[in-house]
Amino acid sequence: MKKIIITIDGWSSCGKSTLAKQLAKKLGYVYIDSGAMYRAITLFFLRNHINWSDKLAVTAALKSIVIDFEYNENSRQSEILLNDENVEYLIRDLVVAEKVSEVATIKEVRDFAVAQQQKMGEKKGIVMDGRDIGTTVFPNAEFKIFMTADITTRVERRFKEMVEKNPNVTFEEVKKNLEMRDYIDSNREISPLKKAEDAIELDNTSLTMEQQLAFALKLAKEKMGQ
Ligand code: CDP
Repeated sequence: MKKIIITIDGWSSCGKSTLAKQLAKKLGYVYIDSGAMYRAITLFFLRNHINWSDKLAVTAALKSIVIDFEYNENSRQSEILLNDENVEYLIRDLVVAEKVSEVATIKEVRDFAVAQQQKMGEKKGIVMDGRDIGTTVFPNAEFKIFMTADITTRVERRFKEMVEKNPNVTFEEVKKNLEMRDYIDSNREISPLKKAEDAIELDNTSLTMEQQLAFALKLAKEKMGQ
């Protein structure tokens, strides 16, 4: 059975990471959350008061950042480390979400993240989700998915997730954040969010987790030559 690269791109909070984790688990592949890398970089910039409109400051700051992923036996998930600190939980905060798309427009930041992502895919056997994975990071990936879901469903899902951690978060705040990120992500100059020509589209607005997995798994196995 051939080892392949699976890319999942799409709008904010449309279930990319859920599907990516399901697929990786079923296939025994590595799952990488590329958005977590942009979020961790943003957290570092915020904590260290980096002025990200200054290219020199950004370049210097990136030299102090090491990002790794480690498997957590308890949560059974791979979690992100920023300079050896597990920041998986912190990067999901709205404070980071408010700034991450702005930070992700910066060329130096993208070059830094993309280089690392491409290295992680060298041996294939990987599922990576994000915005530019099928277009820029792995343009030759064997199986590309572009996910969508309607905005109300996406906001409801993300609000439910966030309010569990922070009861002060409002539905309106979450909605505004998703809309803002979608706008910046799809209109930026470098690697904007768009469907790769050879990606298959998956709208999961009314699909259960089992249904979306069955759909993607069947196609993945075809690509793997099973
Ligand atoms: O989970 P959600 O879909 O809301 O976002 P995420 O995957 O955690 O990504 C956070 C942000 O990082 C996105 O809104 C993009 O601005 C940026 N991002 C990117 O530019 N390129 C990627 N490959 C992944 C994320």
